[in-house]
Amino acid sequence: MNSVNCLSLKTVIIKYGLELCEIQLQLIKWNKSVYFYTLALKHHMNHEQSIAASYYLLYKTWDYPSTRVVRCNEQEYCSDLEIKTAVDFLKITEDESIPVWELDEWDDKDYIRAQCLLEAHIEKCDIVLASSSRKQGETIIEKFEEQAQQNWDQFYLYHESNFFKDRHYLINEFPEELGCLCLRCLEGNLSYEINNAHDDDEHIIQEEFIICEIGCGVGNAILPLLELDPHIYELNQSQIIRKRKVIICAFDFSSVAIEIIKKDIRFIHAHQQNRTQAQVWDVTCPVIHPPIQNAQISLLLFCLSAIAPDKMMQAARNVAATLQPGGKLLVRDYGRYDEAQIKLGTSRKKRLGENFYVKHDGTRCYYFTLEDMERLFVDHAGLEKVDLKYLRRKYRNRRDDSVRRRVWVQATFRKPTRK
Ligand SMILES: C[S@@+](CC[C@H](N)C(=O)[O-])C[C@H]1O[C@@H](n2cnc3c(N)ncnc32)[C@H](O)[C@@H]1O
Repeated sequence: MNSVNCLSLKTVIIKYGLELCEIQLQLIKWNKSVYFYTLALKHHMNHEQSIAASYYLLYKTWDYPSTRVVRCNEQEYCSDLEIKTAVDFLKITEDESIPVWELDEWDDKDYIRAQCLLEAHIEKCDIVLASSSRKQGETIIEKFEEQAQQNWDQFYLYHESNFFKDRHYLINEFPEELGCLCLRCLEGNLSYEINNAHDDDEHIIQEEFIICEIGCGVGNAILPLLELDPHIYELNQSQIIRKRKVIICAFDFSSVAIEIIKKDIRFIHAHQQNRTQAQVWDVTCPVIHPPIQNAQISLLLFCLSAIAPDKMMQAARNVAATLQPGGKLLVRDYGRYDEAQIKLGTSRKKRLGENFYVKHDGTRCYYFTLEDMERLFVDHAGLEKVDLKYLRRKYRNRRDDSVRRRVWVQATFRKPTRK
């Protein structure tokens, strides 16, 4: 493994559609990778496959029963099931019918093509234009708004926790903000200090590190975070250890989703340690005080797109209010001209408003530009922009050479420390 240089890792990661993470984070998990790598070799994988398998195991979805707790701990036993998953994964990627991810570049022609396609279908797609009267169209749209919560409840009653995959990529995507959740194993000195310290030692400062997710669904983001170390440790120059307990709070307006999270063994364990809570909250309701106001990190993942555009400003302000000064908001959501938008935007009676659509199950989806994000969180919610970008991937089905193009927006905003 030591002979593997970064270039070959990068090639493998891109080839298998894995997300390239920061070198630093690769190093954090290096020991564990070597371990998986050796085991993968034993299972007759070649060098390249073994690396891909290691990375898959470390960074991508774990399709295990939710009872399985995955911890990055050198002593942990690497089971046959893990190896089998890696082998199966590689078999799948070798199957030509399975698409392979590639990075995607967009030029002016791509934008114009997408725009023209949506415009050409607007009459049949727009609910108001395609209804027998304006009034009738508007009534249908209002109904979707009134039933928003109910439709998400129905969604989770039907799919339970089987629809979205666990979002293991968050630490790679936001290393500066979330990397601290798994840095501990890197710092030899610090682990020595920690192993030899007691909570009542004078040179330990105990604090909390609060993360919250708004629109958490059934916990595909927060549950993997709860599997990481329950404490973050830092050692300052005076050899004082700062020990921060990681507390994760989850909110969603679907009571069905919240009940599903509460039954997950990862949630139950963390709840017993007073490290988590899950609560029903509609983020579009005007409130003076949100249920939490001192989060270091707030997550908003594919939630804002489900909210009607005229309620997004209130939602953005409420989300900002969950943060303590200096805290950061991490956002990922659907981007303008994503393939799903093109599909909805060229179908009958799906368009509720500009770039806002209804799906077959009554849940809705907006497709953002970077300007939308900046307007909401900087202009209306008073946050500072740290990072704001499109993520574009295309995946090619090698059998029929068809291509699907996905677009997401990803952002980091910070709450100013000044009043
Ligand atoms: C696409 S799902 C994303 C779930 C989760 N964040 C994830 O990434 O897997 C959107 C979630 O937003 C929630 N949601 C929609 N409108 C909301 C609102 N007004 N307040 C709180 N949650 C809302 C839905 O119930 C749903 O769970």
